[in-house]
Amino acid sequence: MKVYKKMVVLFVLFSLLFFLISPVSFSSAQKDINFSRYNKDGIHELRGSLVFAHILFRHGDRTPVEPYPLDPWKNESLWPTGFGQLTNIGKNQHYQLGTWLRKRYSSLINQSYSRNVIYVQSTDVDRTLMSAESNLAGLFPPSNQQIWNQDIHWQPVPIHTIPEKLDYVLAAKKSCPAYDEELANVRNSEEFVKLDEKLSYLYEYLSDHTGKKVNTIEGVQKINNTLCIEVIYNKTLPSWTQKVFPSADMTYAADFAFKTLTYTRKLARLKSGPLLKEILKRFSDKNRQKLKPNRSLWMYSAHDTTVGNLLNTLNLFTIHSPPYAATILLEMRIEKKIPLISIFYKTSNEDPNPLEIPGCGIQCPLDKMYEIYSDVIPDNWDSECDIQYSLASFLISDEEDRGFAMNILAIVVIVVLLTTLIYLGTVYYRRRSYFRVLVY
Ligand SMILES: *[C@@H]1O[C@H](CO)[C@@H](O)[C@H](O)[C@H]1NC(C)=O
Ligand SMILES: *[C@@H]1O[C@H](CO)[C@@H](O)[C@H](O)[C@H]1NC(C)=O
Ligand SMILES: *[C@@H]1O[C@H](CO)[C@@H](O)[C@H](O)[C@H]1NC(C)=O
Ligand SMILES: *[C@@H]1O[C@H](CO)[C@@H](O)[C@H](O)[C@H]1NC(C)=O
Ligand SMILES: *[C@@H]1O[C@H](CO)[C@@H](O)[C@H](O)[C@H]1NC(C)=O
Ligand SMILES: *[C@@H]1O[C@H](CO)[C@@H](O)[C@H](O)[C@H]1NC(C)=O
Repeated sequence: MKVYKKMVVLFVLFSLLFFLISPVSFSSAQKDINFSRYNKDGIHELRGSLVFAHILFRHGDRTPVEPYPLDPWKNESLWPTGFGQLTNIGKNQHYQLGTWLRKRYSSLINQSYSRNVIYVQSTDVDRTLMSAESNLAGLFPPSNQQIWNQDIHWQPVPIHTIPEKLDYVLAAKKSCPAYDEELANVRNSEEFVKLDEKLSYLYEYLSDHTGKKVNTIEGVQKINNTLCIEVIYNKTLPSWTQKVFPSADMTYAADFAFKTLTYTRKLARLKSGPLLKEILKRFSDKNRQKLKPNRSLWMYSAHDTTVGNLLNTLNLFTIHSPPYAATILLEMRIEKKIPLISIFYKTSNEDPNPLEIPGCGIQCPLDKMYEIYSDVIPDNWDSECDIQYSLASFLISDEEDRGFAMNILAIVVIVVLLTTLIYLGTVYYRRRSYFRVLVY
């Protein structure tokens, strides 16, 4: 009898363990809460008090990264700075954004700069580093004790970076073979091949006139971008451009190309997953009072692709080219101890409205964020980038199947454990009976 009771306890324990292992089981408790609220004027009212914000932006106005071989404006001396560099216009855009951020986050930051309040991270590229510097000039103009030179209304603020080749979080350029393989599959997919066919006239026309082989939408995007900048800088475009620039097809190719790098959930997971994971982890740490130092702002200075990739990973991207200084804000408010996440996308001088997080609304509980985006948060980026790993998971390639497989595995493990226990229990019981027979 005692053995029987023990086994019941063990069974209950293993069942509990099973439910703990299986994250799907208890997941959707809060599914139908709508956290959206509007005041009389239709302006969003957000609940709770703001405690943390992540800011991710594109650099400001720049010169062309690489003019095409037959470009009449390809002489670098025709440009205010070298190629791919931040211009004075770009510096001003970020200085303005910095002053706007100071106002928006006045409840989080002091007039004075402190390393315990903000951390700034940039990709290792001149224009993003300089954009961050210009932005911080607007965000932290020195006052009181921090004034160090009466003639310079600026103070140094540290900006952190790592070489792009090592950076799998922000620049997202560290090598990832499984990503490259998936991207090649996407490019060879029927949808992309059809788009290439539809645009083949454009590829041909651009290749002929630019002196550069164009055979992808990204190739079109690059030419589009150079022409776009030359227009901003009042440079007369050669007459061949009139036929295709601007045109619906060329704009579409340039805009749509921002989706390519995160086109499937697997691409999103390997490209922007580490960044999203880091952001959610930081929110979670802040909420649990575990963030050290206990900061309130985190700034990322990056590129149009970074902005497009993160939005698409969040399922919030609408096809467009992210403009200069385009900014994603991810804010956490806490109401009645529940951390609520809101996401904004700022592309003009207007204050942005919160975006509707798919299936959750404009204020999404942090737990729910983890659930909604579980398909794009990598467990272990390094091993998932391994082709070996991706071959091993070939049979169960999509996420749901993988979750299902994990459950099956858990059931098998538990059945084996239980069978072993029952077997051992029976043997034990028989022995005891056997001994009893002997003794009595
Ligand atoms: C939540 O409610 C607001 C109005 O209060 C509505 O506009 C919005 O569409 C709702 N969102 C969802 C996801 O149901
Ligand atoms: C670029 O322009 C400068 C100044 O006009 C001129 O001296 C130089 O030769 C030009 N370079 C090329 C490669 O045309
Ligand atoms: C703000 O600055 C004052 C001194 O100027 C300091 O006492 C206070 O702790 C600071 N608050 C924060 C949140 O950093
Ligand atoms: C492409 O050109 C269109 C039209 O000029 C412009 O709106 C868009 O921002 C451009 N995209 C890129 C990536 O340059
Ligand atoms: C282009 O020309 C317009 C009109 O003269 C001027 O306002 C603008 O500043 C010029 N753009 C640049 C980048 O110099
Ligand atoms: C961390 O900062 C928040 C305000 O941002 C404050 O409410 C909280 O008490 C701080 N926690 C610790 C452990 O200092």
